[in-house]
Amino acid sequence: MATTQAVVPVSWEISCDLCHTTDDGDGLADASVAMDILTDHDRLHITTLASDTPVACMDCHGQLPLGTSGTPLLSHAIHGAHASRMSQVSLEVDCYACHPGVETKCLRDVHFMEGMTCTDCHGDMTDVADTNRAPWIDEPRCDDCHDRNGFDFEQPDTLYRNSKGHRGVHCAACHGSPHAITPTVVMADNVQAIAVQGHPGTIDTCTVCHTRRPDDRFEHQLDDDDEDD
Ligand code: HEC
Ligand code: HEC
Ligand code: HEC
Ligand code: HEC
Ligand code: HEC
Ligand code: HEC
Ligand code: HEC
Repeated sequence: MATTQAVVPVSWEISCDLCHTTDDGDGLADASVAMDILTDHDRLHITTLASDTPVACMDCHGQLPLGTSGTPLLSHAIHGAHASRMSQVSLEVDCYACHPGVETKCLRDVHFMEGMTCTDCHGDMTDVADTNRAPWIDEPRCDDCHDRNGFDFEQPDTLYRNSKGHRGVHCAACHGSPHAITPTVVMADNVQAIAVQGHPGTIDTCTVCHTRRPDDRFEHQLDDDDEDD
């Protein structure tokens, strides 16, 4: 059996408290950051969330992956309502106020090294809030930008994280997770590539998986039967 190390993108940072505090000048001495959010919601939208805890936002604001679809969807509501509020914190990257936070800085990949940021792939807060896009489903795709002769990219209607190419191998197996497309500036992300092929970056060494270098050329293509996998 072989073993390897994988990087799982998790963080418990989420910096709503950059703006929502127990004493944010709204005249209410709230007991917690969460309570400040609920009382703001109650005041602005005539709800009674603060006295109805615990609150599941998805009861009213749909989250498609969880099977609820009340409008405005949570993603549309939160990004749309906050788009005009971000100047309150003047961060270099607005998204880091909530994704996941100012310390974690999730984007550290080859695109980060090229000087790109969230908005180059996702657009700004208003674009994310656009009700013509389905949250969690209409995400950026590698082939929005990459167009290399003879190369196929994601499977149709499939997120990068679920897509497979080169005879059923997950894209992420050779390239890493979204936001950590290798090589990245965080050493932990490069550990696997260095361990199996001696250098960071895309897994491009045939003998990582084949017992010897195949005679046929490398195909970066989708197979006809990939969608059934
Ligand atoms: C850049 C500052 C900022 C950040 C960061 C922020 N908020 Fe807000 N939020 C505001 C402001 C300003 C209001 C309006 C407050 C008011 O009018 O009393 C607000 C209001 C709200 C409301 C009330 C509904 C509405 O109309 O928007 C909710 C719910 C809310 N925020 C949730 C969150 C959550 C959840 C997070 C973190 C994931 C968050 N906010 C992060 C600034 C911020
Ligand atoms: C009981 C139903 C209900 C629950 C639960 C609820 N909301 Fe709302 N929310 C509403 C209603 C109604 C509006 C006003 C919608 C409108 O104006 O179209 C609203 C508006 C908002 C807005 C402003 C949207 C905009 O475009 O201005 C945000 C942001 C928001 N909710 C976030 C949240 C969050 C975060 C939670 C969970 C903590 C939550 N809501 C829980 C009913 C609810
Ligand atoms: C005020 C807090 C806040 C800010 C700022 C923010 N987000 Fe979000 N974002 C959220 C929350 C909360 C969710 C979870 C929504 C849900 O569960 O449906 C989310 C979900 C998402 C999603 C997944 C759902 C979807 O719509 O596809 C994407 C993509 C996203 N955000 C991108 C961005 C980008 C890009 C920026 C900066 C331009 C940004 N966000 C800024 C709070 C924020
Ligand atoms: C090179 C393009 C690119 C850049 C730059 C980028 N993203 Fe993404 N992002 C993606 C792709 C692709 C996905 C869809 C991943 C998948 O297949 O599930 C995604 C998904 C997301 C999601 C949804 C989470 C999930 O698990 O599906 C959030 C939230 C998000 N990005 C936030 C951000 C933030 C915040 C930044 C900047 C710090 C950023 N992205 C920069 C390409 C990018
Ligand atoms: C918004 C446009 C955009 C999106 C979306 C995007 N990329 Fe890129 N990518 C670039 C640019 C620009 C560069 C740097 C210039 C170049 O090398 O082509 C780059 C470079 C790369 C490189 C370095 C390889 C090389 O030829 O230098 C890899 C690997 C890569 N991207 C993989 C991906 C993957 C995997 C995805 C999907 C998860 C993706 N990209 C999504 C724009 C994008
Ligand atoms: C078996 C490993 C492997 C798999 C699986 C794989 N790739 Fe690649 N990918 C590569 C190699 C090798 C390159 C070429 C790198 C170079 O030119 O330096 C590449 C290049 C790329 C590039 C950059 C193309 C450019 O513009 O130069 C993107 C984007 C990309 N792959 C996306 C994907 C997507 C999406 C999938 C899943 C459908 C996928 N890859 C599956 C190995 C793989
Ligand atoms: C991450 C693992 C991985 C890497 C790296 C990889 N391959 Fe593959 N390759 C596979 C898998 C899995 C298959 C499917 C094997 C099967 O169906 O029996 C495959 C199949 C092939 C096939 C079709 C062979 C056949 O008998 O169907 C060729 C040709 C091939 N690879 C060439 C290459 C070349 C050339 C490289 C290096 C540039 C490479 N591969 C790198 C995993 C990989």
